[in-house]
Amino acid sequence: MCGIIAYVGDKPSAGKILFKGLHALEYRGYDSSGIALLNERNNIKVFKKKGIVKLAEKKFLKEKLNSNIGIGHTRWATHGEPNNKNSHPILSYSKNFAIVHNGIIENYSSLKQILLEKGYEFNTDTDTEVLINYIEEIYNKSGSNFENALSTALRQIRGAFAIAIINKKTPKYLYGARRGSPLVVGIAEKKFFLASDASPIIKYTNDVIYLKDNEIVKVSSENLKITNLKKEKINPEIKKIELKIEEIEKGGFDSFMLKEIMEQPKSIKRSMLGRINVNTKSLFINGINDYVNKLLNARRIIIVGCGTSWHAGLVAEYFFEKYTRIPVEVEYASEFRYRNPILNSNDVVFFISQSGETADTLESVKITKKKGATALGIVNSVGSSIARATDEGCYLHAGPEIGVASTKAFTSQLIILFMIGVRLARRLDKIKEKKYVEMIYQLDNIPKLVKEILKKKNIIKNIAKIIYKKKSCLYMARGTNYPVGLEGALKLKEISYIHAEGYPAAELKHGPIALLEKGTPVIVICTRSDEYEKTIANIEEVKARKAMVIAILDSKNKHVSKMVDHSIVIPQIKNDFSPILNIIPLQLLAYYVTKYKGLDVDKPRNLAKSVTVE
Ligand code: AGP
Ligand code: GLU
Repeated sequence: MCGIIAYVGDKPSAGKILFKGLHALEYRGYDSSGIALLNERNNIKVFKKKGIVKLAEKKFLKEKLNSNIGIGHTRWATHGEPNNKNSHPILSYSKNFAIVHNGIIENYSSLKQILLEKGYEFNTDTDTEVLINYIEEIYNKSGSNFENALSTALRQIRGAFAIAIINKKTPKYLYGARRGSPLVVGIAEKKFFLASDASPIIKYTNDVIYLKDNEIVKVSSENLKITNLKKEKINPEIKKIELKIEEIEKGGFDSFMLKEIMEQPKSIKRSMLGRINVNTKSLFINGINDYVNKLLNARRIIIVGCGTSWHAGLVAEYFFEKYTRIPVEVEYASEFRYRNPILNSNDVVFFISQSGETADTLESVKITKKKGATALGIVNSVGSSIARATDEGCYLHAGPEIGVASTKAFTSQLIILFMIGVRLARRLDKIKEKKYVEMIYQLDNIPKLVKEILKKKNIIKNIAKIIYKKKSCLYMARGTNYPVGLEGALKLKEISYIHAEGYPAAELKHGPIALLEKGTPVIVICTRSDEYEKTIANIEEVKARKAMVIAILDSKNKHVSKMVDHSIVIPQIKNDFSPILNIIPLQLLAYYVTKYKGLDVDKPRNLAKSVTVE
């Protein structure tokens, strides 16, 4: 999910150009970087390092190597922790080919098995090295025509990729290809660029070609050719870059938070890559595979996290207990770690953390392991402290989350937790095969439903305009959506600074309803669920106090919109997956309220993206 820049041209300054491009890509968040160049003797020279771009650049500057062709990368690790060897560019086994890659190769482990049996040795833990070695294997087997080898190999690849490759066999040419991850071709006088977005290109040219999925581009300093995987020639459409540089950095959105809200259909899909396969009706969480028996025989499951991650744990509590019947407890990491928790080897503890660096959560992992319980991570940042401290775990693969208010990480946490819950429920025979398959199809369909909800953003924007001057908002919901109310309230208070609280809907009459004045906004989640009739009664209660009721409804209960002041109707989904849909309008509501207040949605006051202090 990170950054690619590649260059071929008439100037022997590829190294300088590539590092300038990597600096332009730094905003995307990354953990390591590097470049590879072909020198005059057609040897491939690699300069790469874990950490900031400057560190790899320092290695390059020591050699001052002239070259007119090369590739560069900022990595956001998905397979293989961030370290020097796993950084890109990555060389093939023969060292004749060098690749940079954005994305996830789903079938990398089966391909790696084939290559190992053919005698290939691997120097990294990445899926990317499998990809370049597989391309090399096809190249060696198919008469050494690189173009043919590339399209043949890519037809066998499952997953998402944007790649750039240089090689010693055809040193004049730079190759690129994409499926599911973006790749832009920049066209300038006697030079071409390949990049993940226009930010590293815009200083050289405004003329670009946006490569489409399953297209391969081959460029030298004089010409360009685009083909598809069937080797048919494509006539490309040259477009102008319209966006300004700061807009490009946020994917054309005005903030990282909006970009991350809007990319949730993709990030949720990425979290399912290699785990859900509707064709084979299979669901496989290889991150915890070695501990499935521990989970199946667990006396109880404990879920530990902070903030938004804690809210994801609360949703999982409802889901796991309903479908697996395993007792679940959810704990704030900051409380869990100081109360000498009673744990033993029959307990499994999940640690949820986007950053993987939250101090209280990390300490809780250590305490858990000291007491002999199993510690499993659900983390976004590969190779982070929590990921390394836990026994095993699943990575979100949501891509870097830059906005301080967590959005896409939350929905990716939920999709991972739902997949774990469905898998366990089937293994425990608490759900039959028919239900299991139905739930797999529903999970697979979620990105499409999220996309539908995002199309309603103007309705939500209008509601935000009505409430942005309010001093306080209440959120209420029942059952598995109660934690969504908490998360919606957290979103609003942490970026707009409006006081907001979430409650179980039935709880308001035990005190909080005293807060209601005429026009106080009460946001209620009232999508179809077992307790839905009761929630209607709670709406009546708050209306009787002249509150302003804003309801999240689904297509089956649109009639409730007549009872409330404002409503957002979203698609219906069964089997308790609704939290992943209901949170979307609440994320957008918080975002637009904050925009109307003229505040910085990405960097709210007093907050840090990762709380590494206790
Ligand atoms: C969420 O919007 C907040 N930024 C915050 O509550 C965050 O969820 C919490 O600090 C936990 O962070 P983590 O997931 O990186 O551990
Ligand atoms: N999956 C590759 C890796 O982990 C690429 C990650 C990225 O998109 O930066 O190295």
